Amino acid sequence: MTEQLQRIDPQERFQELCKTEKYRQRISQMAVEGITSLIVDFQDLLTFDRGLTEELLQNPDGYLKHANNAAYAQLQIEDPEYGEKTETVTARIVRLLETAQLRKLGSQHMGKLVMIEGIVVRSTPVRPMVMQAVFRCKRCGEITAVNQAGPFLRAPFVCTNPSCRAKGPFDFIQEETTFIDSQELRVQERPEDLPPGQLPRSLNIKLIGSEIVDVARPGDHVSIVGIVRAVAPTVPRVGKLRTFVLHLDANSIEVLGKEPEMVLPSPEEEKKILELAKDPWIHRKITNSIAPSIYGYDHVKESIMYLLFGGVPKSLPDVTIRGELNVLLIGDPGTAKSQLLQYVARIAPRGLYTSGRGTTAAGLTAAVLREKGGGMTLEAGALVLADKGIACIDEMDKMRPEDRVAIHEAMEQHTVSVAKGGIVATLNARTAILAAANPALGRYEPHRTVAENISLPVTILSRFDLIFVLRDEPNKEADSKMSEHILEIHRKGLSPVEPPIPLELLRKYISYAKAIKPALTKEALQRLKDFYMAMRSASETEGSPVAITARQLESLVRTTEARARSALRKEILAEDAEAAIAIMRRSLEEVGIDVSSSRIDIDLIMTGKPKSLRDKLQTVLSTIMEMERETGLVEKVALLNELEEKYKISIGEAERLIGQLLREGTIYSPREGYLKKT
Ligand SMILES: Nc1ncnc2c1ncn2[C@@H]1O[C@H](COP(=O)(O)OP(=O)(O)OP(=O)(O)O)[C@@H](O)[C@H]1O
Ligand SMILES: [Mg+2]
Ligand SMILES: [Zn+2]
Repeated sequence: MTEQLQRIDPQERFQELCKTEKYRQRISQMAVEGITSLIVDFQDLLTFDRGLTEELLQNPDGYLKHANNAAYAQLQIEDPEYGEKTETVTARIVRLLETAQLRKLGSQHMGKLVMIEGIVVRSTPVRPMVMQAVFRCKRCGEITAVNQAGPFLRAPFVCTNPSCRAKGPFDFIQEETTFIDSQELRVQERPEDLPPGQLPRSLNIKLIGSEIVDVARPGDHVSIVGIVRAVAPTVPRVGKLRTFVLHLDANSIEVLGKEPEMVLPSPEEEKKILELAKDPWIHRKITNSIAPSIYGYDHVKESIMYLLFGGVPKSLPDVTIRGELNVLLIGDPGTAKSQLLQYVARIAPRGLYTSGRGTTAAGLTAAVLREKGGGMTLEAGALVLADKGIACIDEMDKMRPEDRVAIHEAMEQHTVSVAKGGIVATLNARTAILAAANPALGRYEPHRTVAENISLPVTILSRFDLIFVLRDEPNKEADSKMSEHILEIHRKGLSPVEPPIPLELLRKYISYAKAIKPALTKEALQRLKDFYMAMRSASETEGSPVAITARQLESLVRTTEARARSALRKEILAEDAEAAIAIMRRSLEEVGIDVSSSRIDIDLIMTGKPKSLRDKLQTVLSTIMEMERETGLVEKVALLNELEEKYKISIGEAERLIGQLLREGTIYSPREGYLKKT
């Protein structure tokens, strides 16, 4: 402590700060807002008294008390009426000059005031915590109040009645005990702060006080000022461990803006960006800059470009429509899917790579977990953590069963709702999704439908704007070019194709483009409408499949917006519409050719079956139901016979159809050789 500081009473110094215009105003506002906290900007304190801030950072326990007392004293002057009703005032320090890195916190920080930033990954419900417990002696009835600290509720050692002095028993009187709201959060490093190749670290935060609990939800980006504490974990019947665990006792918490930090380009870079945008081949250039070491897949890279730029979300008074695109790659093993996904996660602002199972217990959406102590916590999954970013989900077909249910809402409404174990919450998941999956049968079987080829329900498939199939077919010309490409990489150790736009500039370009909100021109609108009408009228003829639905129309609009954005244009031109139609056609064709009519058939995606197949499945099912009415259980052999005789369905095909109904769970086999409808 410096000599000067010893002479000056710190509480008086704090109170002098409270007497400045800004803080007098804040204090007189407290009654209006019904709060007992005073927000103190660290910067103000610094300009006011540098020594005081140093002391505050080094000895926060003592100095925060001085600040609280000073604020309380000033409240008595500023607003005596409210002051009388208030018992304490808490000074909450915000925006320290430096942000401590979560992974660098250590023993040298213990007992110090720090500020950390991160994403909330877990939160407990708000729980009342005892501040002062009141007990009644069972012997004499004497009332004793005990101030509480530490994790356990403490009763008095002895009765305070001098003539009793009993060591108990005591009754706990809840009505006279004072409680305060408390909550625990778990905060994780942000993906953008992560050193490459490292797993994120996290820290537990204890919040006490009704004005700081329930401020942040899982998925929120927060800035928290607090005191670093270390506690030894207790092992039952053994004692306390020698290695301590760090946590933060929060003094203040602020939810930061959800937008990823705009990586502002320098004036020089801005010039380059505007120059690039004028290039008539800009889309080609961007596509070629995406994962240049991966050979081919131009259409996939084009859709990744749309995904990176994204469309414009619309929030109308009654509904909101997502702007982000969802793209699915279904592919044979070894077709560079994982490589593409990891690349996108790296270049996208706030990109996140995860496997379908997720990297935490919360999986892709969210989970309510039981804590060690018996309480419940809500944990955010990958899609919530990637809010306002891009989630790259590898092996999506292997996601948890809980996610299969919750992901429907996440993909279309962009929220994740949880109601379990007393926790009810809705978290944001405004993410674009780039997913990859392996075919259910190991390899993609072109004569089977998409739904048969992938073990994802069609309701999820239909939420993807674009689906592509990556097949590993031997093809002399392509194989020779691809092998040359791959061998060249291995020989040189770097990509044979230089990206036309360097990665760092591309990232800034994307971030720059995101501010643009393109609108459809008349011509573009007409093109989209013509395409939609043509596809719809193709399905008007009796019995033909529905070619396209309103969902695809929305996908088309998003794609055109993303394409205009990637040329930094405010208008969506006819060429954008044409490109969007072309890529949509390609995606539909890859997944949707109805083999028997060779017509684009959206029924494939919506119901998972081409119309003809659907009819056949319906026939099998109704035959089963008919036979069930007669015999209860249906003998499989009898069913096969009936189908062949009555409907001319071959045994092989019938077996396949039955297999599919079994897989879908429409029918089941109660015992070997028998079937029954569920
Ligand atoms: N078109 C390509 N261009 C360059 N490299 C390729 C290409 N296709 C495959 N590879 C290489 O093949 C290897 C396997 O790729 P990757 O692991 O991404 O496959 P995958 O599709 O994820 O397979 P799986 O379905 O088994 O997970 C990678 O090293 C990748 O670089
Ligand atoms: Mg893979
Ligand atoms: Zn007593």
